[in-house]
Amino acid sequence: MPDTKTIERYSPSLKILHWMMAAMMLTALCTGFLMIRIDGGSLQNSLFDLHRSLGVTILLLAPIRVAVHFLTPRPGPVPGLAPIQQLAANGVHLALYAAFFAQPIVGLIGTQAFGAPILVWSLVEVPVFFQKDEALSKLLLGLHGLGAWVLLVLIGAHIGAALHHHFIRRDGLIRRML
Ligand code: HEM
Ligand code: HEM
Repeated sequence: MPDTKTIERYSPSLKILHWMMAAMMLTALCTGFLMIRIDGGSLQNSLFDLHRSLGVTILLLAPIRVAVHFLTPRPGPVPGLAPIQQLAANGVHLALYAAFFAQPIVGLIGTQAFGAPILVWSLVEVPVFFQKDEALSKLLLGLHGLGAWVLLVLIGAHIGAALHHHFIRRDGLIRRML
């Protein structure tokens, strides 16, 4: 097992995955909120394709991210944090990890139940695992929409905490991920 006490930064592989997946999650959120609020047409279709491609890529990276989290050395608790703050930070991280799986899986099944094809990066079509089912699609895409708002709050809290550490506490926490 890696020694978690003496390490000051996350591993390069975790850092790369963190920033790649952060950018993809934020883009998936923006495209998701935008695409269902604009009129149908080629822009909307492209946004849907981009959204689904990002989501499927996040889902494929999720197990790799979990493996890298557990298999590479990571820093110990943030010095100077009250136990309740450390617990909150860990809780948000855990919820974000869960979202890497849950949000795309619910979106994917909801889309297949709707009867729409999922073409990833204009290259590969996801095989059909779920037949058309209007009620299931409505339920899952409703949940997917709700999940997106929960995710937005979690990411807001996460980025807010990172900025608080950087500008107010000035404890250099962000360097652990740079
Ligand atoms: C400007 C944006 C962001 C900044 C500045 C940032 C910063 C950080 C920092 C400094 C850490 C390390 C915290 C620690 O050592 O306790 C961290 C961890 C983490 N971040 Fe971010 N983050 C950002 C965006 C995101 C986004 C959008 C997501 C996911 C949707 C995300 C998911 C995570 C997760 C899951 C961890 C835990 C890492 C682990 O233990 O494996 N971050 N982030
Ligand atoms: C982590 C990845 C994902 C994120 C963050 C995300 C986020 C979002 C957001 C923010 C919306 C708009 C919700 C609203 O305003 O009600 C949305 C809608 C949607 N997403 Fe995703 N999504 C992800 C993955 C996927 C995947 C993998 C698929 C399908 C393959 C998908 C299919 C859809 C569909 C079809 C809608 C429209 C739902 C409707 O018509 O109400 N999403 N998503």
